[in-house]
Amino acid sequence: MKMSSEDASNYDQASSTHQAKAKDLSGFFHPKGVAVVGASNNSAKIGYQILNNVIGGGYTGGIYPINPKDEEILGRKAYKRLVDVPGEIDLAVITVPAPYVISVMEDCARKGVKNVAIITSGFGEVGNTKDEDKIKQIADENDIAFLGPNILGLLYGPTDLNATFGPQEVLPGKIAFISQSGALAIAFMGWTIMEKIGLAALCSLGNKADVDERALIEYFNEDDNVDVVLVYMEGLKDGTHFLRTNIKKPVIILKVGRTQRGAKAAASHTGSLSGSDNIFEAAFKQLGVLRAQSFAEAFGWARALSLPLPKGDNALIITNGGGIGVSTTDVCEDYKIGLIDDPEWLQEKFSETMPDFGSYKNPIDITGQGHAKEYGQATSIALKEDRIDTVIVLYCETSVTNPHEIAQGIVQSYKNSGQKKPMVVAMVGGQRTRDALQFLNQNGIPSFSSVEEAISALNVLFMWKKIGRKEKEEATLEAAPSRAIEIIAKAKDEGRDSLLEHEAREVLELCGVPTPRWAFATTLEEALEGAEGMYPLAMKITSKDIIHKTDVGGVELNIKDAEELRSKYTKMMQRVSEASPDAVIDGVNLIQMVSGIECIVGMSQDPQFGSVVMFGLGGVFVEALKDVSFRVVPFGPKEAACLIQDIKTTKIFDGFRGMKADKKTIVQTLCAIQKIAPYVKEVDINPLVTSERGSCAVDARIIL
Ligand code: ACO
Repeated sequence: MKMSSEDASNYDQASSTHQAKAKDLSGFFHPKGVAVVGASNNSAKIGYQILNNVIGGGYTGGIYPINPKDEEILGRKAYKRLVDVPGEIDLAVITVPAPYVISVMEDCARKGVKNVAIITSGFGEVGNTKDEDKIKQIADENDIAFLGPNILGLLYGPTDLNATFGPQEVLPGKIAFISQSGALAIAFMGWTIMEKIGLAALCSLGNKADVDERALIEYFNEDDNVDVVLVYMEGLKDGTHFLRTNIKKPVIILKVGRTQRGAKAAASHTGSLSGSDNIFEAAFKQLGVLRAQSFAEAFGWARALSLPLPKGDNALIITNGGGIGVSTTDVCEDYKIGLIDDPEWLQEKFSETMPDFGSYKNPIDITGQGHAKEYGQATSIALKEDRIDTVIVLYCETSVTNPHEIAQGIVQSYKNSGQKKPMVVAMVGGQRTRDALQFLNQNGIPSFSSVEEAISALNVLFMWKKIGRKEKEEATLEAAPSRAIEIIAKAKDEGRDSLLEHEAREVLELCGVPTPRWAFATTLEEALEGAEGMYPLAMKITSKDIIHKTDVGGVELNIKDAEELRSKYTKMMQRVSEASPDAVIDGVNLIQMVSGIECIVGMSQDPQFGSVVMFGLGGVFVEALKDVSFRVVPFGPKEAACLIQDIKTTKIFDGFRGMKADKKTIVQTLCAIQKIAPYVKEVDINPLVTSERGSCAVDARIIL
């Protein structure tokens, strides 16, 4: 069997299958001409609705209905085939039944169309991968980028292009929405009006046979009309490809299928695998995208991300009610949002904005008598003062105040301030308050009907700021030493599916994983010689035929000296041969006893992301707490350090009741095991014992 560092380069290629030249997507958004293939005069048909939206949306380029029978559709001259159109076509929207899509794609190639949106269903999502593959082949051979199949269409506000069969009216704005679900995309278009969320672009992805999230996110990186990208994701076809996305703007991902049941539903929806949610979570962190847990949260974040980032950590709350102020303080505390705490200074600045019975401690309570004037005054001061970095405005509806006037006052002072710092609003009340919230949102101030939503939205700015500060780390897979590859190859040649313990330890050691002193011995004499200077030590039987060593009496711990080793060695050999008479004994492993915090380091395979490394608290805690974190291979030392920070019990590693970890050698281990990723299925280091003196892999298993 030949196995070399070639395997590693194959691994790299396998994980970058999409690295072909990026296709030009500009025709989707700035087309000179749009053809609707399958346009119809029958208003019940999708082909009619799309053409109607293209015309009614205000698009001013060439519009070409394609239909084999009709001369004219919706007042536009119709053509029998794409190739009959005299003008230039950058975008073709296909709404003909599945059996005709391939021939229409061939026409697109003949006509030189470079961007195609395939609305038609009946491909990969129902098992018809053959036709989907054929479409992809035609597209790749002719440098055509296509969305779908099985999509709602696409929309781009700046060119007034609405090539969807969703609503015609959409609120303009700076959010790009990429959705794997067409139905949700339709709902979102409706929400833009209802919830006053402005949209720059909407792309339905469907089966993602060609254009995917990465291609669009990278396109929107360079689009000044887009501030924030919001992605609704059910699954990924190739996680490693997605992990290479170049993130320049805030990307919010709503990944559904968190639960086992949800994942099943997603898999049957678009034929995609949802993958283990832990791995998605890790990959999103690694990539630097923001994962929202619900639609409401995602929309709230999208609104907030149009605000300037906070310069510092001093937030100020302005309220007309004590209770809502206190609960907001709690929520800020939960999110670790700092509240400015200087009563004297606050009194000096804010006392004129409230009656005597108001409160100038943060929250600034302008009381139930706070009208538009007081709100306007207080927000103006908060927005002006440099010591305040972030403003949170709260309002509880009262019969003596007018929420709309208050909203107007807030909007006015925000506009007058030059909008240099973030401000969010939470208003609680009835219909009048709801209208006021809409007015605020329409004017670009993220406003919510609950405190929790408002603070979560504000917090996303801190999250994005942190991501921006994180140094990007280029990580490539380092080659494994040739001796380590040889050991693995030999075991595979022998038909084994795992390495023996001493082989696993040697492979890890060769890769740079710190191990305790150890020796492998086939006789008592070798054991005595190998054990010199290593006491106290553990002795473990080694045999390809014995899986559970403890069950056959094949483990002895805390052997203190040569005399004890001699007697325990002899007894162990006797016990094991009685318990397992047919087993071939290869020898014993001698390992120096070490003490410290027990961790677990593992590596396994994920169907979407390939090799992933896991870190957590080990020993007896691993099963009980399941407190583990993941990262996708390859990653470097900075990301490895984040793996340690990510677990809930991370504090233990900084020093806890006399225990302290050596993070440097944990990071070293997390980086080193990645070298054998191309050759193995699983690695399990349990425990990796860490203390101030360093860390070492005490027990290791490698599955091939
Ligand atoms: N070139 C041009 N026009 C053609 C061609 C062709 N090769 N072949 C047929 N046509 C015309 C037809 O004559 C017809 O026009 P007509 O009304 O004047 O006769 C028109 O194209 C449409 O063809 P139909 O056979 O009438 O098909 P129909 O409109 O019923 O369905 C559709 C086509 C919509 C593409 C359907 O096959 C389909 O896939 N529907 C599902 C779409 C979908 O849901 N996508 C996912 C969206 S996301 C979500 O979940 C909301």
